[in-house]
Amino acid sequence: YSALAIPIVVGIVVVGSFERRIAFYSKSFDIRVCVVDLSKKQIDAWNSRDLPIYEPGLREVVDQSLGKNLFFSLDIDSEIKMADIIFISVNTPTKTQGIGAGRAANIKNCELCARKIAEVSESDKIVVEKSTVPVRTAQAVNRVLECNEKGLKFQVLSNPEFLAEGTAIADLMKPDRVLIGGNQSPEGLKAAETLVSVYANWVPREQILTTNLWSSELSKLVANAFLAQRVSSINSISALCEATGANVSEITRAVGMDDRIGKRFLNSSIGFGGSCFQKDILNLVYLCETYGLKECADYWNQVILMNDYQKKRFSEKMVACMFNTVTGKKIAILGYAFKKDTGDVRETPSMFVVRDLLLEQAQIHVYDPQVKREDMWAEMDYTCDLNPSTYTGLESAVTTSPDAYAACDGAHALAVLTEWDEFKELDFEHIYKSMAKPAFVFDGRNILDHDALRKIGFEVHAIGKPD
Ligand code: UGA
Repeated sequence: YSALAIPIVVGIVVVGSFERRIAFYSKSFDIRVCVVDLSKKQIDAWNSRDLPIYEPGLREVVDQSLGKNLFFSLDIDSEIKMADIIFISVNTPTKTQGIGAGRAANIKNCELCARKIAEVSESDKIVVEKSTVPVRTAQAVNRVLECNEKGLKFQVLSNPEFLAEGTAIADLMKPDRVLIGGNQSPEGLKAAETLVSVYANWVPREQILTTNLWSSELSKLVANAFLAQRVSSINSISALCEATGANVSEITRAVGMDDRIGKRFLNSSIGFGGSCFQKDILNLVYLCETYGLKECADYWNQVILMNDYQKKRFSEKMVACMFNTVTGKKIAILGYAFKKDTGDVRETPSMFVVRDLLLEQAQIHVYDPQVKREDMWAEMDYTCDLNPSTYTGLESAVTTSPDAYAACDGAHALAVLTEWDEFKELDFEHIYKSMAKPAFVFDGRNILDHDALRKIGFEVHAIGKPD
């Protein structure tokens, strides 16, 4: 912070540890980073041995820096006063009511942070939007900051985060690029250069891009929309494969070897989940509508509709294959997180499959190495309006199993809904013997050896593959 000497005289305060962004990392001990939050529970957890989120490699990064140049604190006012750069990293959920309900992002928390910064600051500061926001949010943040009564000068930058859960630490250490958007005035360019010099501690300069504010804000939404669109595109083809006898993995290989298309993000699945893709596309759709671009809005909305179709298609196929009834049948759900190597269940596609099976009165046994039962219910309640206190029989219809073998014991079917590596290593001979017959496997991630399973005796159905 300001008391530190050259070369880098910045302190960074990151506001809002709820946002699962691990943006506080700094390899340089010349930079003091303090993460502040209103929630004592969150801050205590970050200061403890039991971090509030699961992320491979996170423990080591925190251990290296905690108490040296990384701090977690509830003392928001003092930390804001001390900082030279302030990252706003609060969540921006989709609005559930009012104007733009179901599509627009609510930037209330960003505005509250800006008001707090304006109120307590005693020196000029750089304020960085780290949260994913609609285009022109920086304008609102700037207007609020400008109204401070002490005549302080603030520069607002946009620095969207591109790291993905499960690989966050690797993405952070070696990002494809860092994007910094700023006002194109001399003061704005100087502020952007200060932030560039922070990242330049570990990222090659040519990978640090600087743009105007609006391009930076919009690039984040576009990047996520393009990634999600690839998943929806291949998922639409998976349905066609199942209808025609083509194999989606062979198609992915053939198509992905074209350098112009590329191999990544073409794994067909039960649909994409997570807190970002759907929210950001809805945000993009709302922006297009706001600017009167109906055709553009419809185009991007289709990515979401295809995703909904894919989730529904999977649960309907499960029921159809099991003689059109799953009532009272035990079904093992292997994997509940929205992807492997995380315990995050926000918008997880597994939840929608489980919901559909519950409505068909199946007995669900879930095993996921990282997901907690209370998180499962909280998300089910928030997104599907289903919770044990309002829906009789729900609590007993879902069992959380200690391992995959317990979940599969006596089950009519097992469904792989998250691509955890450990599922590939299971003893399927043993599982087959313990299951009701015919024993069904529904591979929603195409990670199992289907030929080997068929040899054991399973009836296997997978995404985009001939049955
Ligand atoms: C995504 C982006 O990849 C990050 O770049 C971005 O920073 C982040 O959102 C964010 O905005 O914070 P994340 O949601 O953590 O990251 O996870 P992804 O790896 O993108 O996966 C999203 C979903 O798509 C998962 O459910 C995953 O299983 C699914 N997916 C992904 C597929 O079904 N097929 C694929 O080929 C790839």
